[in-house]
Amino acid sequence: MAEMKKVTALVGYEGNTQTIEYEVPAGEPGVWGADYGFDIAGVKDIPRLDAIDKVTGRAKYSYDINRPNMLEAALVTCPYAHARIVKVDTSAAEKMPGVKAVEKFPNVEGQKANYAGWLIAAVAAETIQQARDAARQVKVEYKELPFVYDYESAMSEAAPSIRSGGNVTEARSRDKGDIDRGFQEAEVIIEGEYETQVQTHSCLETHGCVAEWNNGELTVWHSTQGVLSVAQAMAKAFSSEGLDETKSRCITQHMGGGFGSKFGPEEFGIMAARLAKITGRPVKLMLNRYEDSVMAGNKPASRMYVKLGAKRDGTLTAIYAKCLNIPGHSGGASVNVPFFEHYDCPNIKVEEQNVYINAGNARAFRAPGRPQGSFGIEMALDELAKKLDMDPYELRAKNVSGSLYKAVPYELKLGAERFGWKEKYQKPGTQTGRFRRGVGCAVTFWASTGSPGGAVVRCSLFSDGSVEVANCSQDLGTGHRTMMAIVAAEELGISPEHVKVSIGDSSLGLKGPASGGSTTTPTVAPAVRSAVYKAKQKLFEKVAEKWKTTADDIDCQDGTVFSKSDSSRKMAWKEAAALIRKDTIITLGEHIRGEVPEAGTGAYGAQFAEVEVDTETGKVRVIKIVAVQDVGKTIAKAQAESQMCGAVIQGVTSALLEDRIMDNMTGRQLNANLEDYKILTAMDTPEIEPVMVDVFDPINNASAKGLGEPPYIPTAAAIGCAVANALGTPVRRIPFTADMILAALQKKEG
Ligand code: MOS
Repeated sequence: MAEMKKVTALVGYEGNTQTIEYEVPAGEPGVWGADYGFDIAGVKDIPRLDAIDKVTGRAKYSYDINRPNMLEAALVTCPYAHARIVKVDTSAAEKMPGVKAVEKFPNVEGQKANYAGWLIAAVAAETIQQARDAARQVKVEYKELPFVYDYESAMSEAAPSIRSGGNVTEARSRDKGDIDRGFQEAEVIIEGEYETQVQTHSCLETHGCVAEWNNGELTVWHSTQGVLSVAQAMAKAFSSEGLDETKSRCITQHMGGGFGSKFGPEEFGIMAARLAKITGRPVKLMLNRYEDSVMAGNKPASRMYVKLGAKRDGTLTAIYAKCLNIPGHSGGASVNVPFFEHYDCPNIKVEEQNVYINAGNARAFRAPGRPQGSFGIEMALDELAKKLDMDPYELRAKNVSGSLYKAVPYELKLGAERFGWKEKYQKPGTQTGRFRRGVGCAVTFWASTGSPGGAVVRCSLFSDGSVEVANCSQDLGTGHRTMMAIVAAEELGISPEHVKVSIGDSSLGLKGPASGGSTTTPTVAPAVRSAVYKAKQKLFEKVAEKWKTTADDIDCQDGTVFSKSDSSRKMAWKEAAALIRKDTIITLGEHIRGEVPEAGTGAYGAQFAEVEVDTETGKVRVIKIVAVQDVGKTIAKAQAESQMCGAVIQGVTSALLEDRIMDNMTGRQLNANLEDYKILTAMDTPEIEPVMVDVFDPINNASAKGLGEPPYIPTAAAIGCAVANALGTPVRRIPFTADMILAALQKKEG
C-alpha cells in the first residue's frame, strides 16, 4: 500500500456544501474543492490554444493531410437496399487512367448487402477524379431482394427477414419496484405514444484517413475519436503481415466532429491501409457526403408507448414504457435510462426491442438512447401535468431529490429563475392569436465519471520554465488541448499559453481515453493535475534547498514562487525553473478515482425552452433555451460554454429539422446530402444561455465531469413540451414539421 495522507475539501454546490476529510496517496494532490482559490480554471475565458491555427487554416485536419506521392481512393457501394452480391469484376476499372489498385472488400462476393451504401470495392488512383471514374467501371452483379424500409414494414407478417434471428429482437426489460402496484396506487393515469427520428451524425469533416507505410511501419492520419484504439485495431488488422502496436501509429491533431461515430479504423480505413501497402504509396480515403450519410452511423429512431401513474398532488407512483428502437440493419440503442434516472419514482418498468431495417447501421450518438428516452418521459410528464391541472415545472420539482453531489432540485429552481418561468408560463393552449408562445422544461442526467481505463499524463518541466503535458487523447473540436493547459497552468500559477500540450498521436505512448461517453475531461484532467503536481513538488524541493526550508513551505501563484512562512522570500517562476539546470523534471500522473462515498453521483441538469408557433404556416421557432448543467468543476470556462451551446444546437436541430428519409420504393435514403437533409443554421439558432453549476465532487482530483453529452439530452424534450404548451395539444413526434403542427391544430380546433 502506498503511504496515504489526509486531505480536506469543501465539496457540494451552492447552498449545499460540506467539508470532507479523506485520504489520498502521499504524493498526490487532494481534490480541488470550492475553497481552493482558483485563478484561471472556471474564472478566466482563455481563447483556444489552437484558435489562430483554426481560423487561418493552418490547423491540419485528416482531410487536409497531403503526403508526397499520395494516391486518392474512391469507393464502390451497393445501390440496392437489400441484395445478394453475386460477382464483382474489377478488370475494366483496373485499366482506367491513373488507376494503381482496385480491391474488393474481404469476402464480398456471396455476401448480402443490407442497405444501399454497403461496401463493395475501393479504387486508388493518381487523382480523386480518376478514382471515381474507375469506381464506376467496377462491374457488380447483384440479385435484388425484397427490403424493409421502416419499422412497420419490418414487423409485418410478410416482411423478409433481413438478419438471421429475425427483424425484431426479444424484448428486454428493466424493472424497479412493482409496476402493477404503482398503477393501483395511482389516482391519475395518462398514456401516450412518442416517436423520435433517425438523426445522422453529419460530422463536418467526413470519416476517413490518409495511410502511409514506411519500412513496415504504418502511420494513419485518421479522423477519429480514439487515436489509441485506431492504432491498436490497425495493428490487429495487419498482424499477419508483421504489424504490431509498436509500428502502428495514428495521428489526429484536429478533428471535425465525431459525436460517437468515429471510434474505430473502419473497414474503409483498413482498406486505405491495404491500398497503401499494395501500391507502396500513401493513400487518402475520405468518405464523400453521400457515403458519410448512409454508412457512417446514425442515432436510431424510437417509438415509445409511455404510461404514467401519479397521486393527485403529482407524486409519481408508476412509470411504464414499451419501446421500439429502430437502428438500421445493425447496432442498437437503449432508451430506458431517462425513465429510471431523471425522476424519483418507486415503480418503473421499461421494455425494449430493436427492430432492424435495410438502412445504415446505428452508432453511438451523443448520449446514446438518452435524448429519445428523455422525449418520451418529459412529453408524458407534461400530459400528466395538464391532466392534474398542475404547472409542469412544479410537477418536476416535486419529483426530484438532491444530495451533496446531486444538484437537480437546485438546477431546476435556478433554471426557472434565469428563464423567468413564473412570468412566462401560461396554462396549455390559453393563447389564441396567430403566433403562440409556449414554454417547457426537462431534466438531464449523465453518469459522467470518467473512463475506467484511466489515463497517464507526462509532465516535462524545463529549466527555462517551459512546461509540456502529453497524453494519447485527442481534441474532437471541444477544446481539450486548452482544458489540459488550463489544469496545468492553474496548478503552477502560470499562464496557459506557456503550457505546451501534446496530444493526438498514439506514438506518445501514454495511455489516454478514446473520447466517448463524455469521459475525456474527467479522465485526463486529473492525470494532468497529478503529473503537474508531482513536477511542482520536485521543483519546490530545489527551491527549498536554496532557501534552507522544506518543500511544504513553498507555493507558487501568478508566476511567482514563494515561501509561505517568510514573505521576503520569492522569485519569478523562470528563476525557480533555472535551478533545475540540465535535470529536466519528468513526472507521470495517473487518473485515480476518488474513494469517497457518494462521489460520482453523476451530472444532472435542467433545460428550459421558449418557442413560438406560427399557426398559419406551422413553423416552430425556438426563441430561447436556458441550459443549467452540473459540470463538476468548470475548468475551461469559454470552451465549456461553447460545448453547452453546441449540445443545445444539436438538440434544437433534432427537434425542428433533421430526419433521415427512406424511400419506400427503392429503400434508399432520399436525403443523403447536406442540401436535403436539413441542419439548423445560425439563422434559426435561438438565444442560448448556458448556466454552469459547479458541483465539487471528489470523484477525481480535479472535480472534473464530462460535458459533451448531458446538455444534448433534454433539449428536444423541453422544446416538445413548449410546443405542446403553446398549442394546448401535444405533437408526439420529432422533428416538428409544419404539416404535423398544422394537423395537430386542425384536430384540436377544426
Ligand atoms: Mo459518444 S456517443 O460516447 O462519442
